[in-house]
Amino acid sequence: MVEPIDVAVIGAGAIGRTHVDTLARVGGMRLSALVDPSPAVAALAESTGVPCLPDVAALISSGLAQAAIVATPNETHLPVSATLLRAGLPVLLEKPVAESLDSALKLIAVADETGLPVLVGHHRRHNPIVRAAQQAIRSGRIGDLVIASVTCSLAKPESYFDARWRCTPGVGGPLLINLVHEIDLLRHFFGGIVNVQAIASSIRRGFAVEDSAAVCLTFENGGIATLVISDAASGPWAWDLSSGENLARFPAHKTTAHHYAGSRGALSLPDLTLWLPEDEPDWTRALHAEQLPVVHGDPYEAQLAHFADLIRGREMFPHVSLRDATANLIVLDAIREAAARGTRVGVDLSPLQGLSGTTFNNGTIP
Ligand SMILES: NC(=O)c1ccc[n+]([C@@H]2O[C@H](COP(=O)([O-])OP(=O)(O)OC[C@H]3O[C@@H](n4cnc5c(N)ncnc54)[C@H](O)[C@@H]3O)[C@@H](O)[C@H]2O)c1
Repeated sequence: MVEPIDVAVIGAGAIGRTHVDTLARVGGMRLSALVDPSPAVAALAESTGVPCLPDVAALISSGLAQAAIVATPNETHLPVSATLLRAGLPVLLEKPVAESLDSALKLIAVADETGLPVLVGHHRRHNPIVRAAQQAIRSGRIGDLVIASVTCSLAKPESYFDARWRCTPGVGGPLLINLVHEIDLLRHFFGGIVNVQAIASSIRRGFAVEDSAAVCLTFENGGIATLVISDAASGPWAWDLSSGENLARFPAHKTTAHHYAGSRGALSLPDLTLWLPEDEPDWTRALHAEQLPVVHGDPYEAQLAHFADLIRGREMFPHVSLRDATANLIVLDAIREAAARGTRVGVDLSPLQGLSGTTFNNGTIP
């Protein structure tokens, strides 16, 4: 029988606790330590029966972990992950890959130097709903993407912002924290994004960082999408609030958040309803709704199983690589720049293409 991999969770806040709970359910891995300087984590350490260490240096000298999950604030992703990788520990790193392109590129260089697996925590990619949608889209069932709309209404309570990084410009805000998931999915489904336009607003909360934004994207095939997001708007129309993928944290409303209309038919998510015409598309004739089949599963569990396979060498390529996640960040940077300048901004992926060893396309990178 194969011994479980000892895994440390670095940063035991909101999502770190999801990883702790998930580790208790999956086989092949076990929680071996928590790393967090916050005194609030002592009770969790006690209930899970593992030591809580103050920093990654203490973890490395303890020898307690063979791999790590990094769930710390965005601006710490580079220093924390680089230290772990240099000490020989594979990393599952929460999204966004980093707070800035510069940090993300530095992290890619460290990961390439060590050759160790790094998986970025765009967990939705491990959701069977996303797999079924991608298969339907890529096999042409809705034709070419013409238009898409994504809504993300996430009324976060005041206490959410006690963690000040979440409302610090350049580090937090719903674009970097939440919209990056939507960008990842749209790239995964429809390929490269070539330019963006955006309006950002901070009127509802009055923070220095945005609380709401409206974004327009143009894809390589000419398809266009609009995305609206707010962490101050109350509504059920958000992936997090309708997919049921983290029921410990969020309700699962029976509604939709993503709508894709193609040259042949349409698809809504996360309910996986496919709308197809009987013959040629014609707005005067009824479309038929069909439910795409899916066996629901927990994406956080599947993500950890994939991480274990990468560590054991059973899989060679992460489903979400550092380069892929950095492409998401480049799109996010273009959105932030477009909102600040009030103009259309091109998505420039050349910083990734210049890197050695990069096999790169503008959609999903293997
Ligand atoms: N994939 C998802 O579904 C998802 C959901 C939420 C957050 N996230 C991402 O996870 C990360 C954490 O977000 P959160 O909302 O859980 O944050 P949080 O503020 O709730 O928790 C962060 C924890 O990290 C600790 N910490 C800070 N610096 C540290 C360091 N250097 N070493 C060890 N611990 C440190 C803090 O004390 C805190 O307990 C962010 O990158 C966020 O974008 C991902």
